[in-house]
Amino acid sequence: MSEGNEILTELDGIQARGLEALATVQDEAALQAWKTAHLGRSAAVMQVFSRLGQVEKELRGQVGQRANQVKQVLEAALAEKDSLVRAAALERRLAAEKLDVTLPGRKPDYGRLHPSTLALDEICRNLGEMGFQIYRSPEVESEEYNFELLNIPAHHPARDMWDTFHTTQPGVILRTHTSPGQIRAMRENAPKPIRMILPGMVYRYEQTDASHESQFNQVELIAVGPGITFGDLKGTIEDLAHRMFGPDVHIRLRPSYFPFTEPSAEIDMECFICGGKGCAVCKGGGWLEIGGCGMIHPVVLQNGGYDPTQFSGFAAGLGPERIAMLKYHIEDIRLFWGNDVRFLEQF
Ligand code: DAH
Repeated sequence: MSEGNEILTELDGIQARGLEALATVQDEAALQAWKTAHLGRSAAVMQVFSRLGQVEKELRGQVGQRANQVKQVLEAALAEKDSLVRAAALERRLAAEKLDVTLPGRKPDYGRLHPSTLALDEICRNLGEMGFQIYRSPEVESEEYNFELLNIPAHHPARDMWDTFHTTQPGVILRTHTSPGQIRAMRENAPKPIRMILPGMVYRYEQTDASHESQFNQVELIAVGPGITFGDLKGTIEDLAHRMFGPDVHIRLRPSYFPFTEPSAEIDMECFICGGKGCAVCKGGGWLEIGGCGMIHPVVLQNGGYDPTQFSGFAAGLGPERIAMLKYHIEDIRLFWGNDVRFLEQF
């Protein structure tokens, strides 16, 4: 048989084997391998083109044409298989990634403000509207500011009112109340009149229980100027209570003792749960204690740089957590710093 006829027979086989092999291809990888083997540079049909020179002249055209035809048949079959393989792959992916639109959605966790922050913000916003300016004072204090300058000398029995966290540095403590900020605010501004609030964390070295924590917030109020009276103090506290708890709530100032104020008082608010009749929250008394207050002691005014014969002033200390506990019916102060999201999520 002539070379040309031999190649023509071979080409039939090449086409048949190529199509046969293609029929078993299932995926992308196998398809690529098939393409290299049957249409690549060293594929049998490609070899035929380089052998054309050996074919007798009269058959050369026919062999070349047939080789082209086989190549085209294989290419067409490849294209068809390619779209089948792609469609099957897509089908598989769709089945695997099936989406059940009837499943309940997953709710994102929204961040919220801590109840202490909410209470602090509300107190500061209302006092801000009443003309009080915020003053930041350090949490790490000296004993001098925390006690001595507030008219509480060393060894004075009144120090027992504040169990203190000391540091390894003598005389440096964690502030037990926001009152030392009074001295800082006064010294920075004397002899100008001031009206300021000092919010922030305070620390007590105490056994913790449902109503005692080793850290909590306070908001200190201070107003110094010529002719400030106890009436101004009471009016300010009353105005704040009305803004926060409504116009009908009553306030009571109960005589008390603090070394840095004279006279001093505890601030009681009429129980807003029972309206003063007596209930479990106010333990039957009808009143709730929300802080302390008084007229700034002349010695303290002087320590702040004001002449007590020319100036007078009032001060108060409020407990935002105490107010938040009353407002939201929180029964254990330890929940505030327990970091339990089930608690925090409720505000
Ligand atoms: N510093 C006091 C405390 O923590 C609270 C207080 C009472 C603050 C009377 C005042 C005040 O400014 O006048 O127990």
